[in-house]
Amino acid sequence: MALEMTNHKKLNQWVNDIAQLCQADAIHWCDGSQQEYDKMVELMVENGTAVRLDDSKKKNSILVKSDPADVARVEGRTYICCEKEVDAGPNNNWAEPVEMKKTLNGLFEGCMKGRTLYVIPFSMGPLGSDKSRIGVEITDSPYVVANMRIMTRMGQAVLDLLGEDGEFVPCVHSVGYPLDGRKDLPWPCDPDNRYITHFPETREIWSYGSGYGGNALLGKKCFALRIASVMAKDEGSLAEHMLILKLTSPEGESKYVCGAFPSACGKTNLAMLKPTLPGWKVETIGDDIAWLKFGEDGRLYAINPEAGFFGVAPNTSLETNPNAMGSLQENVIFTNVALTEDGDVWWEEMTSEMPEKLTDWKGNSWSPGSEVTAAHPNARFTAPASQCPVIAPEWEDPKGVPIDAILVGGRRATNVPLIHEAFSWQHGTFMGSIIASEKTAAADGKVGELRRDPMAMLPFCGYNMGDYFAHWLKVGATEGAKMPKVFYVNWFRKNAEGKFIWPGFGDNSRVLKWVFERCGSGAEANETPVGFIPTKDALDLNGLDIKDDDLEQLLGIDPKAWLEEVPLIEEHLNQFGDRLPPELVEEQANLKSRLEAAL
Ligand code: OXD
Ligand code: MN
Repeated sequence: MALEMTNHKKLNQWVNDIAQLCQADAIHWCDGSQQEYDKMVELMVENGTAVRLDDSKKKNSILVKSDPADVARVEGRTYICCEKEVDAGPNNNWAEPVEMKKTLNGLFEGCMKGRTLYVIPFSMGPLGSDKSRIGVEITDSPYVVANMRIMTRMGQAVLDLLGEDGEFVPCVHSVGYPLDGRKDLPWPCDPDNRYITHFPETREIWSYGSGYGGNALLGKKCFALRIASVMAKDEGSLAEHMLILKLTSPEGESKYVCGAFPSACGKTNLAMLKPTLPGWKVETIGDDIAWLKFGEDGRLYAINPEAGFFGVAPNTSLETNPNAMGSLQENVIFTNVALTEDGDVWWEEMTSEMPEKLTDWKGNSWSPGSEVTAAHPNARFTAPASQCPVIAPEWEDPKGVPIDAILVGGRRATNVPLIHEAFSWQHGTFMGSIIASEKTAAADGKVGELRRDPMAMLPFCGYNMGDYFAHWLKVGATEGAKMPKVFYVNWFRKNAEGKFIWPGFGDNSRVLKWVFERCGSGAEANETPVGFIPTKDALDLNGLDIKDDDLEQLLGIDPKAWLEEVPLIEEHLNQFGDRLPPELVEEQANLKSRLEAAL
C-alpha cells in the first residue's frame, strides 16, 4: 500500500491501483514546495537531463535536452477513445475504449520499475474558482513534476481543496522506460510506442512513451482543451485555444479580448503586445487557453487555466516580444535551446548578432554558418506567468474577466482583409469554423494549399467538431446572453511584391483600438459581403507609411477571389456530414449570395 496523504478514498485507491500496475519502486506525493522543485532539478542534473545555467545570466534556471526523437506533440498518436467513432468526428483519431485500455494496460504494466511514481494534484485555474477544475497526474518524470509546478497550481493546497470526495480528472503518464536493472537515460522515452489517449466519457487521460510538452504535461492540451471541451459542452460553457488580453485606452477604460489563432500565428506575441499607439496599454491574462462561463449579467467571463507560459523560443526577441523576454530572466526551464559559452541560452533570431560559438540543442558544438539550427524549431521555455512584466493585476481573479471581443484568424497572404467583424454570433461562429492558415509564407496564394483549423481547435477538440460548432451556436442562444463581438484578423497579408503589407507586432494595437471602439462608442465601418471592415479613416494609421494600393488590399475584399474559395469552404464543412449545424450551411449560402451580388 502506498503512503496515504489524503482522506480521499477514491484518490488513494486510484493511486494504489496505478502504482501496482506500474510497479514503481517508490511513491512521492507532490506538495508543490520550492524544496521539492529544487529536488527535481537536482535529480535532472544528476541524471544528465539538465544543466544549470549561470546564475548571473538566468537565475535559478536550467536547460534540458530531449531525445531528438521526442521533440513535439504527436498528433498522429493522439486518440479520442469514446464509445462511438462518430462522436470523435473526422477531426480526431478514434480508438475503441476497451481495446485501447487493453493496449495501455500492456504498456503500463511494470513501466515504472526502478523509478519513483510522483502524484501531482493540480488545479487548472485559480484555486477555488468556480471556473477551475482539478486533476491529478501520476508520472515517473521529474521533468514533468517541475514543469507542472510552473504551469499549474499544484501540491498540498489542491489536496486540501479536494477534501474527502472532491472531483478530479485522473491523468496517468509514463515516459515508458522501466529501469529493471538497466541504467537510466538522460531523456528516457519510448518513441516507437507513443499513445496520448483521452477517454471523454469517463474523463481520463493516459499518456505513454513521450516526455515532451503537451504529450506529458497533461494539464495543458489533454485536460484544459480536449477533456475540458467535452465538459464545457455538457455544462454550457467554453474551453478554447485562446489568449486573453486586457486593453486599456488612454482614457483609462478597459476591455478584455480573447484570440484564437493556430500555432505559429503570433498568439503569445499578441497577448504581450507593446502598443505603438501612444497611451494605449495591453496587459496579459493568458497566452494559450481560455475557459469561459456565463456570469449572472449574461456576459462570458474568462479565466486562464494555466499558471505559466510554455512558449516557443525561436523567433522570440526584444523586437518581437520584449515582454516574453522580460519573463525569462529567472526560474525558467528551457528545453532544446542552445547553450552559450558563458552559461546562457540562445535561439534563432534571439539577437541580430549570432554568438561565435554555441553548444546546439543536441549537444554538438555549433557556429554561425552551421547547416543545422542551434535550437530546435519547437524549443520551449517554461516560465511563471507572474514574471511577465505586463501581467494584468486581475489575471488570477477567480471571477474571471468579462470578454468584449473574440478575435479569430490565421496566416493568409491573400484574400482575407486585415480585420472584418461578424454580423452576428452565428456569423462569427461560421467565421471561426473556416479559419485557415497557409502552410508556408509563399505568396502564390493558391487557395488549395490552405489548412483549415476551426477556432484553432482542430488538434484540441475532444469530440466531433460538427457538434462543437452546434455547441457554439447553442451557447450564443442562451437566454439573456450578451455575447462578445467576433472579429477575423489577418496580420499576414502580402502585396504584389510578396512583402507583408501590415507591420504587425506593436502596430496591431491600431487594430485593437478599432475593436475597442466597435465594442463601445462605435467606429466607422464599411459593410461588405464578408463583414464590417474599418473605413480608412477609422483605422488609426498615424505615423505609419502604407501605400494607398496596399491599404486598399488590407481594407477591401475581392468578391471574385472569395467566390473561388467558397467551394473549398463547402468541402471543409461537408466533412462533418449530418453533424454540421444547418445554421452554418445557411451562413455559407448567405456569404455566397452576398459575394455574387457584389460582383
Ligand atoms: C502549443 C500549441 O504548444 O498550440 O501551445 O501547439
Ligand atoms: Mn497552443
